[in-house]
Amino acid sequence: MFCKPFSPRHPAAVVIPLGRPYVGAGFEATRKGMIRMSVQSAIKRITVPEIRARKGAQPIVSLTAYHAHTARYIDPYVDFLLVGDSLGMVMYGMETTLGVTLDMMIAHGAAVVRGTERALVVVDMPFGSYEESPEIAFRNACRVIKETGCTAVKVEGGTRIAETIRYLSLRGIPVMAHIGLTPQNIQVMGGFKTQGREESEWAAIEADAAAVAEAGAFAVVLEGMAEPLAARITDQIDIPTIGIGASPHCDGQILVLEDMLGLSPKPPKFVREFATLGAQIAGAAEAYARAVRDRSFPGVENTYGMKKVK
Ligand code: KIV
Repeated sequence: MFCKPFSPRHPAAVVIPLGRPYVGAGFEATRKGMIRMSVQSAIKRITVPEIRARKGAQPIVSLTAYHAHTARYIDPYVDFLLVGDSLGMVMYGMETTLGVTLDMMIAHGAAVVRGTERALVVVDMPFGSYEESPEIAFRNACRVIKETGCTAVKVEGGTRIAETIRYLSLRGIPVMAHIGLTPQNIQVMGGFKTQGREESEWAAIEADAAAVAEAGAFAVVLEGMAEPLAARITDQIDIPTIGIGASPHCDGQILVLEDMLGLSPKPPKFVREFATLGAQIAGAAEAYARAVRDRSFPGVENTYGMKKVK
């Protein structure tokens, strides 16, 4: 629907030009063919067709983000930021994502949009905000788009949600799909379980992938999925697959920011910690406590003197 599909086997798969320096890949290019509207400045963010066209090309880089200041740090290095409903567990200490509300997603989505200027921002539709009917999904997705300024929404589910994906996409709302381990379905699945570890499960998951691609999703997250199945789905569908606990063969990867920063007490097996910020935060708090108690903080450089009397 958005762009000519690139398949991994398609020899024409190329690096997509972006409007601003692409730090991760170390190249700079400009957008061609964009019309500047009268009162609007040129679109600076990476667009949905640009993500869509990365099928089988340069890997798509993504992280979750929940607030403005961390989003600002990572904006130059990622292609899209996901304001995931995982924020319920990561930020609010919930056991599952089921308690997350639309208002929470909107508040955090707006913060991430305010803090960034380059990455495409996708906001998760929380449990209960889109499953009932395509019309209700459209109404709630419109709130997310209007009140946050994000570009796209993400919904969980395959064949069961394909009709809604089609309804939203045809009405101007870009949709990212999410299949495999879908945390909003946790009660039905009986826990956070890797999907597709037995070949008998593959047909249903492959049908989910085909259904969301056919319905107009511009990309699909493959979460917690046996590696050979994720690789196979990546070859089967013509939209980018974004893996998390899936396969290096996916068209892109996403991780929860706090997991890769080393802030999560028990990160899952699929996480690589690229920093150990948890230990650094504890160390900083300990040093601060010591400095307050021994009165070495605040120092003269941290206090205000009197104005000089003339
Ligand atoms: O909510 C979330 O953070 C997600 C990612 C794990 C893909 O859906």
